[in-house]
Amino acid sequence: QKLELSIGALEKNGYDHFMLKEIFEQPETIEASFRGRINTKNNEIILGRLTDVMPRILEAQRIVLIACGTSWHAALIGEYLIEELARIPVEVEYASEFRYRNPVLSSNDVVLAISQSGETADTLSAVRMAKEHQAMVLGICNVVGSSMSRETDAGIYTHAGSEIGVASTKAFTAQVTVLTLLALRLARLKQTIPEERFHAIVTDLLAAPEKIRTILQSSNHIQYIANKYRDAVNALYLGRGYLFPVALEGALKLKEISYIHAEGYAAGEMKHGPIALIDNNIPVVVVAPKDRYYEKVVSNIQEVKARKGNVIAVVSMGDNRLKGMVNDVLEIPESDPIVTPLLTVIPLQLFAYYIAVLRGCDVDQPRNLAKSVTVE
Ligand code: G6P
Repeated sequence: QKLELSIGALEKNGYDHFMLKEIFEQPETIEASFRGRINTKNNEIILGRLTDVMPRILEAQRIVLIACGTSWHAALIGEYLIEELARIPVEVEYASEFRYRNPVLSSNDVVLAISQSGETADTLSAVRMAKEHQAMVLGICNVVGSSMSRETDAGIYTHAGSEIGVASTKAFTAQVTVLTLLALRLARLKQTIPEERFHAIVTDLLAAPEKIRTILQSSNHIQYIANKYRDAVNALYLGRGYLFPVALEGALKLKEISYIHAEGYAAGEMKHGPIALIDNNIPVVVVAPKDRYYEKVVSNIQEVKARKGNVIAVVSMGDNRLKGMVNDVLEIPESDPIVTPLLTVIPLQLFAYYIAVLRGCDVDQPRNLAKSVTVE
């Protein structure tokens, strides 16, 4: 048993948990996801395994993204990315709904399944159903040789390395990285964005690992904030645009590992329900970097503060205006909005992690959850 323990400790590389190790690996895993796939000299994105199927993707009447759990949140970001950059209609579906609801599907559709494990039962069934309808089926997957990678027509591996913690972290940022590359590739082929815009996004994508290193250096501060909110019963997460799915993911991380009830919401929807929950006990995590939604999100923060809610804001470095307005801030370096999901999710992962540890929860193996749900 001693030997087993030391092997376990060795695998964690000095970290207390796999989840923490995997959070801290993200600068390297994101780099691994884009390594060899960006040619800055001629402004090209290389996705070798998609070369043969690219004509059919470009002709598709729409792309349907299917996934479960955290991968579904990556899919939501993918929808915004592909529609904004490549102007192709995209829909996002829970695999468990899609497979049973008799959707309209044909050979004009491209279905893109996203799965860390490539073994999730619902996602695999949805893949099979899409194939029966003659749709072209692609995959974004982390586990090489998984069922999904074998059953799809083509795909992209995320190269995040094996993820052990049940709560997905590095697989999520790898999926978002790969979806960004896909959107950029499609945009170049369809000529839907100017060269300068392409160049600006790629530059910031390449800079993301270094910016994440900076965020990770503030882990002590995040732990300090987590300690203030460790006894919360409910929590609300808000974001807009690309950061709405990040709010969903932040809330999912917290509920998965700390068992605090947490809801993610599009900030503009707060007035249609969640605002009723706000009192002086609830922590409200608002993802509020300087982007085109900034002023709107500031108004949402004011609405929460007026009802005595505690606001923890993820802000751009040096944003003194919000600092003076909220209870706590988690700072991130400035970046192109396309890349902000990769940056803003990091403090939310750490916040959930520290709260769960402070509450004495089993972070790597939360109750009732499995790493890969291979049965229905
Ligand atoms: C389980 C895991 C989640 C994961 C989801 C989808 O619920 O606990 O972390 O996001 O399955 O898994 P997949 O392997 O398909 O991405």
